[in-house]
Amino acid sequence: MNRYEGRRALVTGGGSGIGQATVLRMLREGGSVVAADVSAAGLEDTVAKAGDLAAKLTTVTMDIGDESSVRAGVASAVEALGGLDVLVNAAGILRSSHTHETTLDQFERIIRVNLVGTFLVIREAIPALREGTSAAVVNFSSTSAGFAHPYMAAYAASKGGVQSMTHALAAEYAKSGIRFTAVQPGSISSGMTDGSGQSGQSRGPGLPEDADMSLFMKLAPAIGQGFAGPESVAGVVAMLASEDGAFITGTEVRIDGGTHF
Ligand SMILES: NC(=O)c1ccc[n+]([C@@H]2O[C@H](COP(=O)([O-])OP(=O)(O)OC[C@H]3O[C@@H](n4cnc5c(N)ncnc54)[C@H](O)[C@@H]3O)[C@@H](O)[C@H]2O)c1
Repeated sequence: MNRYEGRRALVTGGGSGIGQATVLRMLREGGSVVAADVSAAGLEDTVAKAGDLAAKLTTVTMDIGDESSVRAGVASAVEALGGLDVLVNAAGILRSSHTHETTLDQFERIIRVNLVGTFLVIREAIPALREGTSAAVVNFSSTSAGFAHPYMAAYAASKGGVQSMTHALAAEYAKSGIRFTAVQPGSISSGMTDGSGQSGQSRGPGLPEDADMSLFMKLAPAIGQGFAGPESVAGVVAMLASEDGAFITGTEVRIDGGTHF
């Protein structure tokens, strides 16, 4: 499949996990891609994995929670690509804790990166996307936005916010030719869930030591052999942001092996 021939994409969180898998998928389908991440080491890993396809890959170090970093990062991405058709907002962080022990700083940091960061990148990218061809934005919600995930109140709230924002933006920019969709991954192996991330940026302490694991009894995939790889989400993201997704906007797709049906 060569659905990304001539297509220009910016992928945040492109240094690990699902974002990295999405960068590689879009490159393999012929796209020109800018991978952005707060982790320079993660971006180096993405370039190494791209191999010969790295000729069509540019990297940008960007902290999506920092307004000036996002301004500079998105501007340099648009310049490198000569415009923008696709934005994938995969960057995110997960922190787990008992809510009564969560500090305001910890709560606000998760909202800042996952929700405010997604807003900042979208805001900066909209002018270029309006000029783009069949423009599409794919945001990262989570199964936690709609199904109870204990010890993750701030994370769940941030992802619920991303999902609601996606619907509002889909309506607001429908006549500007920009589609907005979201994915809800769950049970996906990545730097966030198995600690293999290059930076450790996205992964905080695991569950509290005294976490009640019976609360997670429901949280197992119904199909497959446990967690799926990040490419299982990347393929869906690539479909949503391609011409194959041309009639899809203002909605989300859950990719969790039936963990939450
Ligand atoms: N893995 C899952 O099961 C799962 C489930 C639901 C949602 N998600 C979402 O999928 C997305 C991708 O996560 P993943 O699972 O691939 O994890 P990951 O840790 O492998 O990747 C996240 C990437 O985001 C980057 N990042 C973190 N903070 C950043 C910042 N401030 N600015 C720029 N980059 C930053 C990290 O450096 C990392 O490269 C996230 O939004 C996550 O919330 C994942």
